[in-house]
Amino acid sequence: MLKGKHIILGICGGIAAYKSAYLLRLFIKAGAEVQVVITPAGKEFITPVTLSALSGKPVISEFFTANTGSWNSHVDLGLWADAMVIAPATASTIGKMANGIADNMLVTTYLSAKAPVFVAPAMDLDMFAHPSTRRNLQLLQEYGNHIIEPASGELASHLVGKGRMEEPENILKAVDEYFTKSQDLAGRHILITSGPTYEKIDPVRFIGNYSSGKMGYALAEECAARGADVTLISGPVSIKAKHAAIKTINIESAQEMYNASVAEFPQCDAAIMCAAVADYTVENQASHKIKREYDEIPVIRLKKNPDIAAALGSMKQDGQLLVGFALETDNERENALAKLQRKNLDFIVLNSLNEPGAGFMTDTNKVTIIGSDGTCQEYGLKDKKLVARDIVDTLTGKLS
Ligand code: PMT
Repeated sequence: MLKGKHIILGICGGIAAYKSAYLLRLFIKAGAEVQVVITPAGKEFITPVTLSALSGKPVISEFFTANTGSWNSHVDLGLWADAMVIAPATASTIGKMANGIADNMLVTTYLSAKAPVFVAPAMDLDMFAHPSTRRNLQLLQEYGNHIIEPASGELASHLVGKGRMEEPENILKAVDEYFTKSQDLAGRHILITSGPTYEKIDPVRFIGNYSSGKMGYALAEECAARGADVTLISGPVSIKAKHAAIKTINIESAQEMYNASVAEFPQCDAAIMCAAVADYTVENQASHKIKREYDEIPVIRLKKNPDIAAALGSMKQDGQLLVGFALETDNERENALAKLQRKNLDFIVLNSLNEPGAGFMTDTNKVTIIGSDGTCQEYGLKDKKLVARDIVDTLTGKLS
């Protein structure tokens, strides 16, 4: 389950840090990509050279890289990660995490991480038993973090008791089991349309729109990460799907997207129609380049394109789900609701061009999910990857 996963391995200053090298190797052997973030004290116990040789990436410790002045973005790292594993987690770092004391790269990354966080404490038995450590671990658990309990045995102090960091094999197993359980789309086949369509005017010109494909591709990656086989029908964009479970069908026009969607939908459990499809195409397409030298100004005559979502809505069988998007500029909810009903959708994702940071091209979006059952859930402005997570959470809640 760890193949292709992005793991942040946080290492704190404790003797168990020597085991982190072994844990790192286990993650790499399992096919994960690992970025090490180490506290300044951690570097006293294990060298960044060892860790970067094993991970194949420079180790991050400071907010800036001293020789270049380049900024290590804890926010980007937090979004990149599929999981963050802090092993060993010392009493000091656990205390900082519990109380939001963001004075090093590891804790700021933790505070920015959207992915599940696993904490493997390692300390002396009395430190582990201290009420403040117990309270901090309790808080971390309440925040939704996964605590990998330390084992009992001989400690670095030669005292015997609970506080030894769990063995790397067991930490790996805990993370792997988490991903196995989070495969809530395993065995499902999801169809996603994405990007713009291009409607040819002549061999060199087209009618298009500003869709970059970012929203649709984020949905495809989220569904694939959760175990689905994804068929992504994409208009012309400059990005590429990364996950191996995504099959991309590249199309150009709305008619081509319609043909591919109608052919693929019967094999799918759900379809998410995220593409910005041209409502009209050119009836009088020119077979040769339209020349400027013509005396008359050319007239482009339009005709209606097929409505792909509505076509799938009329084909939909029991057990299949159909999700649409609504991109609106006015009467947003009313228009979205009308589309939901007209196209026989199970829910519709409304995004408005009046919201800064939402809609075309941006890395972020702000959506409201309106269900055919009358439910309506508004979300804040978020990265499109997190918007995709909210949409897919809604989808999995409705799949039978
Ligand atoms: O690609 P990005 O730059 O990340 O931008 C994302 C997005 C803004 C394109 C996306 O979030 C979005 O809103 N997609 C739908 C855009 C749209 O065409 O909305 P609409 O309200 O015109 O269409 C309603 C629904 O019908 C959509 O699900 C659309 O895919 C579908 N449709 C529309 C026309 C048509 N002929 N066939 C369709 O299937």
